Amino acid sequence: MVTIADTKVTDPPEAMLPRPFRVTSLHAETEDTVTLELEPEDGNSLSFHPGQFTMFYVFGIGEVPISISGDPHHPKNLVHTVRSVGAVTEAIVGLGVGDSVGIRGPYGVGWPVGEAEGKDLVVVAGGIGLAPLRPVVLDVLARRDRFGGVSIIYGARSPGDLLFEDELRSWRSRFDVETEVTVDRSADDWFGDVGVVTGLLPRISFDPANTVAMLCGPEIMMKVVANEMATRGVGAERLYVSVERNMKCAIGFCGHCQFGQDFMCRDGPVLPYARIAERLRVSEL
Ligand SMILES: Cc1cc2nc3c(=O)[nH]c(=O)nc-3n(C[C@H](O)[C@H](O)[C@H](O)COP(=O)(O)OP(=O)(O)OC[C@H]3O[C@@H](n4cnc5c(N)ncnc54)[C@H](O)[C@@H]3O)c2cc1C
Ligand code: FES
Repeated sequence: MVTIADTKVTDPPEAMLPRPFRVTSLHAETEDTVTLELEPEDGNSLSFHPGQFTMFYVFGIGEVPISISGDPHHPKNLVHTVRSVGAVTEAIVGLGVGDSVGIRGPYGVGWPVGEAEGKDLVVVAGGIGLAPLRPVVLDVLARRDRFGGVSIIYGARSPGDLLFEDELRSWRSRFDVETEVTVDRSADDWFGDVGVVTGLLPRISFDPANTVAMLCGPEIMMKVVANEMATRGVGAERLYVSVERNMKCAIGFCGHCQFGQDFMCRDGPVLPYARIAERLRVSEL
């Protein structure tokens, strides 16, 4: 018989209990997207693997999955980057310094950064998809000598929609990282590339037989990029995508996030493209 003493933190009800965190800073990335830093009110920082997410609870409004966008080497404060698209995310973006929220997690399988060590790494992000990939970039740059060539391709709707602009500038100024940025729609003060991210792929160099790629953004973007990378010889088992599905429990109990044989909260959100490609094709039909 299972007693309360046997209950692990990953079992309900403990895993369903949010911990109180307080907002310590807010940075408006764009008109609708904010990066928040949160400190744990109990003082226990939350270590995480790049690509993991938390369940973010705004008291009285609701709870949503949000990827951790901070630096895995400095997890003292929890960092999230949130785009306002509905009731809960609008409430998050409207929070102020000192406000209290509930956080549980981290959950999910993150990006296979270890597998990329010693190989070329290609990171492709679209829109808010750079948020879950930022911890990968920060981790890789902190241990740059362990990786082969590193390329980052980022696309946003317009120049005003670009996230982490200061960091993008600093990544672009480095000689040991190839960073390409494009927008769908230009603006008067934009002198960079215009067009979809796939247009930038021919510019980057990598050894297809020794490359790991990590893709996050709209599903159509990930599919097009994955197919293009596969055409250039990168095996589908070394192409990783982050597939988001609506979540409730986030611990593999409720089935809300089921996608084929996987529960995306537990088995994902990051999966090898080889495993998920067929399901993505069917879900589009
Ligand atoms: C693992 C995971 C990580 C995520 N990380 C982030 C993140 O770092 N930053 C961030 O801003 N958002 C992230 N999201 C998306 C975020 O959870 C949703 O935007 C949020 O649940 C919407 O809730 P809402 O109440 O604000 O809006 P709702 O009223 O629930 O939805 C508003 C609109 O957004 C659409 N929507 C809802 N959920 C999603 C989704 N998962 N993907 C695409 N469209 C959706 C709905 O269909 C609807 O059209 C993540 C989702 C998952 C599953
Ligand atoms: S959200 Fe409940 S099983 Fe994934």
